[in-house]
Parts: sequence; structure tokens; C-alpha cells
Amino acid sequence: MAARTALITGITGQDGAYLARHLLDRGVTVWGAVRQSARDGAARLRALGIADDVRDVLVEMTEPGNLLRALSRIQPDEVYHLAAPSFVGASFEQPAYVLDVIATGTARLLDAVRTVAPGTRVYHASTSEMFGAAGEDGLLSEDSPFRPRSPYAVAKCAAHQLVALSRDTDGLWACSGILFNHESPLRGTQFVTRHISRRVAAIVRGEAADLRLGNLDARRDWGWAPEYVDAMHRMLQQDAPRDLVIATGQDASVREFTTAAFEAAGIGIDWRGEGASEVGSDRESGVVRVRIDAARYRPAEVHRLRGDASRARAALGWTPSKAWRDVAHAMVAADLSQAVG
Ligand code: NAP
Ligand code: GDD
Repeated sequence: MAARTALITGITGQDGAYLARHLLDRGVTVWGAVRQSARDGAARLRALGIADDVRDVLVEMTEPGNLLRALSRIQPDEVYHLAAPSFVGASFEQPAYVLDVIATGTARLLDAVRTVAPGTRVYHASTSEMFGAAGEDGLLSEDSPFRPRSPYAVAKCAAHQLVALSRDTDGLWACSGILFNHESPLRGTQFVTRHISRRVAAIVRGEAADLRLGNLDARRDWGWAPEYVDAMHRMLQQDAPRDLVIATGQDASVREFTTAAFEAAGIGIDWRGEGASEVGSDRESGVVRVRIDAARYRPAEVHRLRGDASRARAALGWTPSKAWRDVAHAMVAADLSQAVG
């Protein structure tokens, strides 16, 4: 059988890098859509030792012709559409740009697939952030309502619906994974888990005095990114396209994740105070190691996200092995040893 070919948009990001490695390990020829600005910036691909194994093609999601030309030339069996400005906090400052890249960009991609590669299977990176305020009502599934709380989430809702529509109206083989937060040593440093793990490691090395955080009460269902890219791949091997939730089913607060991260470095943390005055202190020395920085609060917060992946378990045979505490420990261990992978 001829080698299969995949195109990954967003290959320079956390998930793109792990997915590229996952596919290369399975004999797939991998093309990565990269932006001009990132052409020499494939740090994550280099960290995984696969930078030379991936072919690249120039794609900026806001540029209409790029995807059309890339798909026409590559004719991939599978497209994994992961490209997005993915930091929720920044989307409040750049709503028009975020909508252009995520919503209109996904429309551009689907139109290009329909026009020049209609037999290609498409995976779209939807997100638990789409559920937004609905997370406060409990466990979230494919049937839960979308109540977005950020421009990023509004844009992802639009992209998600466009993918569903492309199945119904154009007959495309396209599906969305509704992925809950997933983390790793390759996670961007602006996201809370990596911000915490890097800073804990810096404190241990004596390079930093404390860690500044925003809302400690926010709760997330934090999984392990390498396992989530496996779910993406499995979703495109289904008999028919179907949107599925991918999550661990366990959640924790930012405060609990922080405690676990310090615990991984052998430091016990005691919490006292409330709101912006809350601090976390080293249980042995009494030194304050965590403080609140009110500038890190968001204009609108998603308080809780916890997912029910039982349909993915049944349809894909996918089960996660790491939940938030293991994730915190693994990320701190990696930042302490400065290892990735
Ligand atoms: P990430 O590390 O932030 O990577 C985002 C990728 O998108 C990067 O390769 C980035 O390229 C690319 N990109 C951004 N804007 C672009 C544009 N205008 N044109 C072309 N490429 C662009 O994100 P991630 O954590 O890997 O997440 C992958 C996808 O899953 C994203 O769509 C994200 O929204 C979604 N998602 C993530 C999670 C999670 O917990 N990680 C959960 C649910 C959904 P540069 O390197 O050039 O910036
Ligand atoms: N980033 C950050 N930095 N977040 C903080 C901080 C801080 O210092 N302090 C508290 N938080 C809170 C945020 O307010 C939020 O409630 C939570 O920690 C998680 O923030 P992020 O790590 O930035 O992730 P996110 O949940 O907003 O978004 C991530 O997950 C989504 C899936 O649910 C991103 O990867 C999105 O792209 C993804 O769709």
C-alpha cells in the first residue's frame, strides 16, 4: 500500500509537533503548514528530533490562496487543522484577528478541500472552551450547549459549526475533536500549567523568588498532550466522521495544580488569605512563593471545564492514562531537567 500523506496546519505548536511525531512513527508522510515568521522557528520539531523528517509548505491562515495551492499540490489523505492563535487571554485584545484566523480561516480551508481535494479527510481542533459558562452545570459531553465566554471561543464555535455544515451540505469527510486542556513540556509558556512548572523549576534553581498567578479558583480537566494527538489520529480512522469529546473526566483548580507542582519539587505549600490577597507559602521556611497578580485576571472567566469522554472510549478505544496530578508532576520534572519529549 502506498504511504499515506498528512498535512498539519499549526505544526509548529505543541499539538502539531506531537502529532507529527505520532504520524511519522506510523509511516505517514508529514507535511507541515508553517508561517513565514516560523520557518526557522520550528523549535518543538527540533526538540522532538523530527525537524528534518517533515516537509514544509507556506500557509498563513488569513491568506486566501495559500491553502488552495498547498492542498492542490500535496493532495493529502488527511488534513489536521490545528492552526490558531490559541491563547484565550489574548483573544480579548484581538477579537477581529482571532475571528479571521479561526473562523474565516477554517472556512477557507474547507472551501479549498471541497475545491481541489474533496476526498481528503479533515480533522478540526475544536475546544472545551466552546462550552464556556455551561461548564458550571457539571460534566460536559457532545450534547452540552455552547456558551462561549471569549472571542477565541466564539470563533471556535463558528469553525466547529462550519465543519459540521461541510459534512451535511458538501458531503466532506470532516470531524471535530472537542478537546479539553492538554499539557506537556512543549506547552507554550503563556498557558497556566507551563507558567507554573517553569517558575517552580526556576525557584528550585534559585533563579526566581516567586510565582504570580491570576484566578486560583478556575478549574480545568488537564490531560497529557501526546495522548490527545493519538485521539486525533484515531478520529480520522473512524468509518464515518463524528465529533467527539476528548478529556480525562477529572478536574482541579489552578490552586490544586500549583500545590501539586511544588509538591513535585519537594516543596509543601500552605495557602492563606482570600482573593487578591491570597498567598502560598513554603510550609517549612514560611517564605511566600505564590502571589496574585490581578493583571492576570480575564475580562470574562470560564470557571470550570470537566469532560465526559465515554463516547470516544467506545468509538475509538481511547483512554487517557494521565490526569492533572500526573501532568503537573511530569511537567515539573521536565522543567527541572530541561528535558522535552
Ligand atoms: P499552539 O501551541 O498555540 O500552536 C498553535 C499553532 O497555530 C502554531 O503552529 C502557530 O504557528 C499556528 N498559527 C497561529 N496563527 C496562525 C495563522 N494566522 N496562520 C497559520 N498558522 C497559525 O496550540 P496547541 O496547544 O498546539 O493547540 C492546537 C490547536 O488545538 C489549536 O487550534 C488550539 O486552539 C486547539 N486546542 C488546544 C487545546 C490545548 O489544551 N492545547 C485544547 C483544545 C483545543 P506559529 O508557530 O507560527 O505561531
Ligand atoms: N494563562 C494563565 N496565566 N492562566 C491563568 C493564570 C496565569 O497566570 N492564573 C490563573 N489562570 C487561569 C485562567 O484564568 C484560566 O481560567 C485557567 O487558568 C487556564 O488558563 P490557560 O492555561 O491560559 O488555558 P485556557 O483554559 O484558557 O485555554 C487553553 O485550553 C483551551 C481548552 O479548554 C488553551 O489551550 C486553548 O487554546 C484551549 O482551547
